[in-house]
Amino acid sequence: MDYVLIAHSILRWAVLLFGLWSLYNALSGTFSKRNYTAGDNRTSLFFMISCDLQLVIGLILYFNGMWFAMMKNNAKEVMHDSVNRFFALEHALMMIIAWLLVHIGRSMLKRAGTDIRKHRLSLVWFGLAILVILAMIPWPFRQPGIARSLFPQF
Ligand code: HEM
Repeated sequence: MDYVLIAHSILRWAVLLFGLWSLYNALSGTFSKRNYTAGDNRTSLFFMISCDLQLVIGLILYFNGMWFAMMKNNAKEVMHDSVNRFFALEHALMMIIAWLLVHIGRSMLKRAGTDIRKHRLSLVWFGLAILVILAMIPWPFRQPGIARSLFPQF
């Protein structure tokens, strides 16, 4: 049983929960012009931490599994196969970009002067990150080969 893959599969739900929650806070904060609270800060902190963990687990999967070896040995062929290209390049690269967006967002929030600016920055940076994450998860409705189940199979 691949425990690392199981952890990666389950942790996606934490990433999605805290990501969508942060986005909801940003939307409600922007439109109701309410104060930026400690709760808003905590939710996006958990979003960032779950993305950090997911990145570490993802890197282990990538470098210990066949994906990195495939890229190293036969990058040209990998690029011609949409399933291999997805895991060997697109998923890893785009998820690292999403991870960066979350980190940039959190560091900009710290320097933002007003509460409304904090909500707007959260909306932009966390919104973009969530879009990328949703697009790059290998959902069950993706093409055969890429599609993975919603929960790990024991
Ligand atoms: C927010 C970030 C991420 C999310 C939500 C996510 C989600 C997922 C999900 C749901 C799977 C399918 C798991 C299964 O088979 O049940 C998967 C597979 C995989 N992910 Fe990620 N991932 C993220 C980031 C990353 C990163 C940054 C990397 C690498 C640098 C990575 C590398 C992989 C690899 C290599 C697989 C395929 C493993 C295999 O079946 O051999 N992931 N990911």
